[in-house]
Amino acid sequence: MMDDSELQQQAEQVLHLNARNSYTIPADPLYPHQWLWDSAFISIGLRHVDTERAKNELLSLFEAQWSNGMIPHVIHHGKNKGRDGNIWRSWMNPHAPEAISTSGITQPPILAEAVLRVADGLKKHERKSWLKLVYPNLVRYHQWLYTDRDPHNEGLVLQVHPWETGLDNTPPWMRELHDHQLPLWIQAVKSMRLSPLFNLFRNDTKIIPAHQRMTSIDALALYSVQRRLRRKNYDIKRILAHSLFAIEDVSFNAILLRNNQLLRDIAEEIKQPLSQHLADDMTRTESAFEQLWDPYSSQYYSREFVSHRLLKEPSIGALIALYSGTIPQKNADQLVKMLEDEQMFGSAFPVPSVPVGSDWFQEHTYWQGPTWINANWLIIDGLERYGYKDHAAALKQSTLEMLKRHGFSEYFSPLDGSPAGAQNFSWTAALTLDLLNQ
Ligand code: GLC
Repeated sequence: MMDDSELQQQAEQVLHLNARNSYTIPADPLYPHQWLWDSAFISIGLRHVDTERAKNELLSLFEAQWSNGMIPHVIHHGKNKGRDGNIWRSWMNPHAPEAISTSGITQPPILAEAVLRVADGLKKHERKSWLKLVYPNLVRYHQWLYTDRDPHNEGLVLQVHPWETGLDNTPPWMRELHDHQLPLWIQAVKSMRLSPLFNLFRNDTKIIPAHQRMTSIDALALYSVQRRLRRKNYDIKRILAHSLFAIEDVSFNAILLRNNQLLRDIAEEIKQPLSQHLADDMTRTESAFEQLWDPYSSQYYSREFVSHRLLKEPSIGALIALYSGTIPQKNADQLVKMLEDEQMFGSAFPVPSVPVGSDWFQEHTYWQGPTWINANWLIIDGLERYGYKDHAAALKQSTLEMLKRHGFSEYFSPLDGSPAGAQNFSWTAALTLDLLNQ
């Protein structure tokens, strides 16, 4: 088992290995581009060792911001018409940047957090100019989230693909997809058990054992949703006119809430007030979020956009609500009970992405069981702000112990901490640095 200084040194090495020009890839060879929330977490770690690189990590994201304010979830720097660029064809949307090809959807808006954490490592005058430099990007992004993704002014923003939540095959989204949105041809493949054939076309299962990734049916289903969005050129009006696959995701909205608050803090610090319109939108989200609370099971769920039906499948999203900072203390207290419960999230190496007692739970399968370090980081931060200092310290300690034993995997078994997914994963390494140096 590594000690603190070995852990620190090896984490730095992973970030060195995955550095590319001005940004960091999540892992080689599985994820060869820049990802939005990965880079946010990476900058939060990098600030402890190289503040210039931490700033560049975020500036590379802003460089790919669309003219309508969207920040895409994947950026294919320097690979304009490569295979992955062609899957997305972002250039079909008039708002996409000309010089860089990107995906056409976003990821959890954790950028005000990253900007401020990086600012904490800067000297006073550098801090001001850094905040002033990136503030317009942040404002345009949050404005886009409301204008594009809250078309009825309800206060919650919707997502059109589970990739936007970052929790790709998380149960609430997969249940909804299978029950209501599966194209006929995929239903046929599923019922005729032909899906193993599709393994031949998958890259990820050539790199990672198949049982640690999503099933081929799920992968096909996610690509078919992506294609539907591409056919509508990522234009939200056209998407919502033709497809009813839209969910107000609990973790995405919780992350938005916290980052709204941090954006207000930045505005105040640099004395550049937010527009009244955006300020009103932000306030509305705080009360709207409480509509996701289910008093019967005492937890938060994601909600289907049109019918407002709560999607009562268990997932880590419920606990990420703690990170919002806006939920009532009594609800936070209920969430902490789930974290303590051994049949739910209280496993030996928490926090499992699905409760261990759930039918969905599989210890090594992507977002259907494993412990992920970014989710732990968000929950630790939330616990501290809700006064659960001991719980936060215990979770930090079990997380660091797992990392010292097993290194910087993409995810881990919540039962015995064993590693799974990609090795040398950047946000695992970066957030290790942050947990060690906080
Ligand atoms: C996977 C994860 C997603 C992450 C991406 C790149 O798709 O589910 O959250 O951003 O990999 O690491």
